Amino acid sequence: MQSFAGKIAVITGGGTGMGRELAVQLAAAGAHVSMCDLSEPNMAETAALARAAAPASDIRISTHTCDVSDEAAMLVFRDEVLASHDVEHVNLLFNNAGLSGGGSIFTDTRESWDRCFDVCFHGVRWGTLAFLDALVKSDDGHIVNTSSVNGFWASIGADRPHTAYSAAKFAVKGFTEALMTDLAVNAPHVKASVVMPGHIGTSIVQNSMHFGARALTDEEKELMKIADQMFHDMAPMTAAQAATVILDGVRDGRWRILVGEDAHALDAAVRADPERAYEPGFGEMLFAELRAASDQLNPTD
Ligand SMILES: NC(=O)c1ccc[n+]([C@@H]2O[C@H](COP(=O)([O-])OP(=O)(O)OC[C@H]3O[C@@H](n4cnc5c(N)ncnc54)[C@H](O)[C@@H]3O)[C@@H](O)[C@H]2O)c1
Repeated sequence: MQSFAGKIAVITGGGTGMGRELAVQLAAAGAHVSMCDLSEPNMAETAALARAAAPASDIRISTHTCDVSDEAAMLVFRDEVLASHDVEHVNLLFNNAGLSGGGSIFTDTRESWDRCFDVCFHGVRWGTLAFLDALVKSDDGHIVNTSSVNGFWASIGADRPHTAYSAAKFAVKGFTEALMTDLAVNAPHVKASVVMPGHIGTSIVQNSMHFGARALTDEEKELMKIADQMFHDMAPMTAAQAATVILDGVRDGRWRILVGEDAHALDAAVRADPERAYEPGFGEMLFAELRAASDQLNPTD
């Protein structure tokens, strides 16, 4: 898809982070955008930013409250999207919504594991199934599923279990890769890409706690604020930069979209030496090297 002008784009998780920036950049490129999220106020902010970025007043932006882990809710979202644009087709589907949780099968609850897997994997599955017919009815369609570097490396450090998120993100990657053949056989004008971001400065820590399996205590909320700030501030790439990489990848027709130098470096390192990938220090050493390289390029006082 060379141009997004006049295309109809659907984004899940458009309230903050990469989903918000995708909405803004797609609207700026002349696409009509429909998004869903759990947070109405966050979507309202995104919609205002997207409207301000749009090149013309007839660009349509719509927001829909919907939990992607609920298939019935996704079907209602699909019906609302088609009605709001008065069409039977959509061109672009970004299955972007996600949250973390359920790190350990020993110490985390079953609810938190299931919540993470249901949002991160079944959200992608329900989104694809709900919009498939509308994508097939387009003359040019593209499904863009967000996995993660945790879709090929199931770790955030050798001492920090990360099972539900990694399982879901591996599943998103496998589903999308297999979907490419299914589409080639049954609907060759529809393409699919898998997005694998490294560390991107978004609100995922805060949103994961807020929309996770259970309410937080006041103490946990305070800790969460600090963790959220650190996650955001230490990220080597912003959500806006990440959205640009994703949209460039879609324009170039790439099925495999790595986002960030850390993602590229991890991909190369895991492929080069898969047996060592889960040894202590594997990720830490790589990230230290990347930080040192970046400090050399951008020295500060
Ligand atoms: N930030 C990173 O470092 C990073 C790295 C790799 C992959 N990812 C993935 O990128 C995607 C976007 O995340 P982000 O980093 O922009 O985080 P984010 O929290 O800023 O954005 C995710 C959005 O999804 C929404 N959401 C969460 N659960 C939902 C549900 N059940 N139904 C509908 N909406 C829901 C949130 O409200 C939020 O607006 C996610 O799939 C995430 O797993 C993020």
